[in-house]
Formats: sequence, C-alpha cells, structure tokens
Amino acid sequence: MTIQKRYGKLIGASLGPGDPELITRRAWSALQSGARWLYPVKKAEESSYALSIVERGGIAIPTDAVELVFPMTRDAEILAKAWARAAQQTVELLGEGRDLVFLVEGDASTFATFGHLARVVRELVPEVDVETIPGVSSFAAAAATTGVTLAEEDETFAVIPAAYGVDVINHLLDEFDTLALLKVKPLVDEVLDLLEQRDLLTTSVFIEKVGSPDERIVRDIASLKGEKVNYLSLMLVQNPKRIRGELRRGCRKRKEAVEVSAMVVN
Ligand SMILES: C[S@@+](CC[C@H](N)C(=O)[O-])C[C@H]1O[C@@H](n2cnc3c(N)ncnc32)[C@H](O)[C@@H]1O
Repeated sequence: MTIQKRYGKLIGASLGPGDPELITRRAWSALQSGARWLYPVKKAEESSYALSIVERGGIAIPTDAVELVFPMTRDAEILAKAWARAAQQTVELLGEGRDLVFLVEGDASTFATFGHLARVVRELVPEVDVETIPGVSSFAAAAATTGVTLAEEDETFAVIPAAYGVDVINHLLDEFDTLALLKVKPLVDEVLDLLEQRDLLTTSVFIEKVGSPDERIVRDIASLKGEKVNYLSLMLVQNPKRIRGELRRGCRKRKEAVEVSAMVVN
C-alpha cells in the first residue's frame, strides 16, 4: 500500500501596494492562520517590500518565515535557475503538509510573481491546492490617492508595462481614455517627451511607492526629466481629447428613456 503525501495549500495573499490599511480581512486572516510565510526578495537577505507592509500593519514576522529569491534581471539563464529553485523550495515546504502563505505586494493576479510560482508548483505537483486572495493594485491605490478617475461611463482604460515603448503607448493613447503605465522607470524621459508632444503633461501624474511612508506624488511630471526614479512607480495618463468611436446600439440606456421612466415614477 502506498501512502499518498499530503501537501499543504499554497495561498497568494495580496497585501495592497503599501498602506497596511489596504490589506483585506481575508489576507489578514491568512497571515494569522498558522500557515508558514513565504516572501519574495531580489537578493538573498535583502529587505522585502511585501514584508514591510505587514510589519507596518503590526503583525510580528514569524521566525520560520522563508525568503524566496527572485532576481531582477533579464538574463534568461539566471532567471530560469532562480525560478526553478524557488518552485522546488516551495514544493519541499508544501510537502511538510503545512499551508504556505506567499506575501504579494499589490494584487496577486496583476504582474505578480505569485502567478508564475503557482503555475510552476502545479506543474511539479498537480494536486497542490492554490488559493489567490485578491487585493488592491498599485494603480487603483494611486488613482484614489491622486483623485484620478480611471474610467467613467463609456471610457476605456488600459494597464500596460511601459517597456512596450513609446510607439505602442502613442498608439494606445488613441484607443484609451486613461492609461496606467507600470514599470515606467527605464522609460520616464521617453514617455515625458511623448506626453509633451501630445499635450498631455498636465493630465498625467506620477506616483512612487503609493501608500508607503515614502510615497511621492509628482503632478508637474516634466520636472522628472533626467531623474532616476524608484522601480515602484507608475504614471496615470489621461487623454481627455481622445476621439471616441460609436457605441453599439442597445448597450446603453438612452438618456431620454431614463428621463421618461423617472417622470413616470414621480
Ligand atoms: C511587478 S509589478 C507588481 C504590480 C502589483 N502586483 C500590483 O498589483 O500593482 C511592479 C510594478 O507595479 C507598480 N507598483 C507596484 N507597487 C507600487 C507602489 N507601491 N507604488 C507605485 N507603483 C507600484 C510599478 O509600476 C512597478 O514597477
């Protein structure tokens, strides 16, 4: 008779982008459930932004919390090795039978390490149960903090990593009323040039480390020219002059119809 190994569950706990008040109740419970903590770092024994959010929230870091190293590099070989190591480490820990809670900055389904980690773990051990706890993304918090409306009524809104380059961003500005440009750090100057050309400097805002004690909001974004900004930064760009296409008939109540029904009710 073979005894089947019992694996713990892998939980991705979204912690929001920096303000511990934005940790959801569900993520808070997962952190205190007795599950073992895993947290991402860029280098061994380096500080973890995700961990700092929880620390500021007042939960003591368990002594058996484990760091997983995800280096910030585009070197495919180094990345592949690091990913394989992190996934293997995770599988070994899950094999102890205890649940693991992986700390995620922002939302776990949005450009997060967790999605990839969970996929690789399930490739290695398909029976592992995975739970994703949703959370507040950086751009949602940035919009709220700066008073930007991401989309209203029929407006269009897109979230992209700025690394696609200014030609793509330029094209998207014709299609979307609002763009959230993530990972903007290496392209700040190029994006500023584009926004100047399109006369959108005054309807754009830059936000760094939103919700953290180091939060920085820059509305005069031209002043960022030549500056080396933090990786945890983004731009919200609004294009109020965008020419919109026609909406399909029937997709929206006509204004007159709403007014007539309001009169009937009164
Ligand atoms: C790997 S993605 C993580 C996104 C995150 N999971 C989320 O839900 O927002 C990293 C990028 O997200 C943005 N970002 C994440 N946290 C941020 C913060 N606290 N303030 C500003 N931008 C942030 C930055 O553009 C950064 O380069």
